[in-house]
Amino acid sequence: MSKEIIVLAGDHGGYDLKVILKSFLLENDFEVLDLGCNGLESVDYPDFAHALADAIKENKATRGVLVCGSGIGISIAANRHAHIRAALVHDRLTAELSRQHNNANVIVMGGRTIGPDVAKDCLKAFLKTEFEGGRHQRRIAKMS
Ligand code: RB5
Repeated sequence: MSKEIIVLAGDHGGYDLKVILKSFLLENDFEVLDLGCNGLESVDYPDFAHALADAIKENKATRGVLVCGSGIGISIAANRHAHIRAALVHDRLTAELSRQHNNANVIVMGGRTIGPDVAKDCLKAFLKTEFEGGRHQRRIAKMS
């Protein structure tokens, strides 16, 4: 069976966390498409949010991970795209709910606001939790 491809992107504020999450994905048998950034030099987070949204639109990956300093700016930018439901999460519960209720296709975390172990726990929950559909599908339909 072919591996699911997860696209990752983020700015300098999320760079260290992106490195950690990329290793976590590779260790857990996912394929990774890393769109940068590639270091701590200051960059603009919308560029990376838009690149990730394009990659998902072009079916280069099924789901995505975004990181910036707080997670706020890059989630706002990603959610400008109608096909993206990017959820800024802070713990396992919000990661699970982002899937169960919102069918999020992108998880967002802040490199300066979350520790590596909690971030990995969030990503694990995001990847394995199913969307519940039903009334939540009706609500999601009202967003697009
Ligand atoms: C960059 O310094 C920082 O503003 C950015 O990573 C993010 O936190 C924006 O929301």
